[in-house]
Amino acid sequence: MQSLMPTMDRYLEYVSVFSIILLSTALAGCPSKCICSKNKVKCVEKSLFSVPNFESLENEPDIIDISSNEIDYIQNFDFSFDKAKYVMILYLNDSKIIDIDDTAFKELINLREMYLSNNLLSDLPKNAFKYNKNLISLDLSHNLFRNMPKIISHSLKTLNLINSGIVNIEEDRFIDLPDIEYLYLQRNNIRIIHVDMFKYLPKLIVVELQYNAWKCTCETVEMFNYLSANSLVNIEEPFQCKTKNDFFITFFDNFGTKEPIKNLCLNNAHNTSYNFGGESEEIEEMEVDQEKLTKMLKGIIIEG
Ligand SMILES: *[C@@H]1O[C@H](CO)[C@@H](O)[C@H](O)[C@H]1NC(C)=O
Ligand SMILES: *[C@@H]1O[C@H](CO)[C@@H](O)[C@H](O)[C@H]1NC(C)=O
Repeated sequence: MQSLMPTMDRYLEYVSVFSIILLSTALAGCPSKCICSKNKVKCVEKSLFSVPNFESLENEPDIIDISSNEIDYIQNFDFSFDKAKYVMILYLNDSKIIDIDDTAFKELINLREMYLSNNLLSDLPKNAFKYNKNLISLDLSHNLFRNMPKIISHSLKTLNLINSGIVNIEEDRFIDLPDIEYLYLQRNNIRIIHVDMFKYLPKLIVVELQYNAWKCTCETVEMFNYLSANSLVNIEEPFQCKTKNDFFITFFDNFGTKEPIKNLCLNNAHNTSYNFGGESEEIEEMEVDQEKLTKMLKGIIIEG
């Protein structure tokens, strides 16, 4: 016992010196407002105005979480650091992002999930996710898009656009998103989707469309009937269209299209834009000046 004690002491001394060395190695290169561990970098709610510099990271993070900050602009090279190829999940949600540069995410070649929800995005550069050939899930919910942004990805399976301000979706918007399986479009202001849009989505399993201001036209009914026949929507969900006088009409019951609507559309089969909600005066399509909107948003941020 007596002969063991000094050895033990020495041993403990070694251990503590050794762990100090280890600890400082692990922390080296970690941006000052972040916490780095073996496979994670976390810089949450740190009032950051730009993406921290990850150039000297020594760990190999598969998760980077920069959510809840004040970052308004994601620039090229923000994610062009040595260890970028290890990142599989990136949280950029709940910031103030207005703008993203075209090749900002280019070097995140193994990225699988990306969270950009709760930002101020009104558009995206069309190549934003083109280089992320392993991206399967993209969350763009709670943003300010008016037109569904153009996205190119041949790997993406889940696209979340819940409550993201969408009014228009062009028929060919999904032409470069052939792998989509889960599409979440509820709580927008979509008035019409042409049924042919879905031909660009051969792998679709689920599409959520509740709480939109659908047009009361036979075209809308046709689209829902198509989706229902292909088991993509459940017509027991509250799908409603909005009439000229701001009434909402539920156009399905448990048996399908409600009888009177079905008859009206049959009687007007030659005219898919026939409106059973009364002659519709078109909702004013306010032209959005993108530049003005961006300036306005920047103003809010500066003031706030
Ligand atoms: C960011 O997104 C993730 C995934 O949806 C979520 O778990 C987390 O709560 C979000 N953070 C904030 C601050 O909204
Ligand atoms: C089709 O229906 C719309 C709306 O109800 C109407 O304004 C239009 O004149 C109709 N077109 C034809 C060719 O009947």
